[in-house]
Amino acid sequence: MALLEWTDAMAVDVPAMDATHQEFVVLLQALEAATDGELIDRYVELLTHTDAHFAREDAWMQATGFAASNCHSLQHKMVMDVLREGERRGRAGDLDVLRVIARELAQWFPQHTDAMDAALAQHLRRTGFDPATGALAHPEALPRAELHGCGGATCTDPEELAPAAAGAAG
Ligand SMILES: [Fe+2]
Ligand SMILES: [Fe+2]
Repeated sequence: MALLEWTDAMAVDVPAMDATHQEFVVLLQALEAATDGELIDRYVELLTHTDAHFAREDAWMQATGFAASNCHSLQHKMVMDVLREGERRGRAGDLDVLRVIARELAQWFPQHTDAMDAALAQHLRRTGFDPATGALAHPEALPRAELHGCGGATCTDPEELAPAAAGAAG
C-alpha cells in the first residue's frame, strides 16, 4: 500500500483545491515508487508542483483578507524550506533524506488538508471567492481586519496567544 492514498474524506469541497491535492498524492506515490536513479527527478516534480500549489493558496488568502504572515502561509513556507534543503542534499547524493521527507510528507499532508486547507476552503465559500477568476460574490463577508490565524484546529493566532504568554511570563 502506498504511503498516502487519496480518499474522499480528504476533500475540502473546493474543486480547484481538491484537484491539486489529488495531484499531490499521485506525485508523492511516484516519488515513493521511484528507483534511486529516478528519485531526484520525481522529488523535483513534487517540489515544483507543491511550490505552485502553496503559492495559489497563499494568493487566495491574500485576496480574501489574510495577512501575508498568517499561520497557514507560514506553514507552507516552512515546508518549502524543508523541501529545498532536501533537494540540495539529494543533489549532493543523500538519497535517504528524500525518502525520509516522502514519509514525513505522507504524515503531514492529511493533517494540513484537514485543518488549514479545510478552514481556507470554508473561508473561500463564505466569501464566495472564485479561484478561477478571483471574483468575490460576497465581499461583505470579508474580515474587517487582516487575519493572522487560519481558523484551523492546529492554528493559534499569535495575537490571541500574546496575553496568555504575557501572563505566563509575569
Ligand atoms: Fe493545499
Ligand atoms: Fe495549504
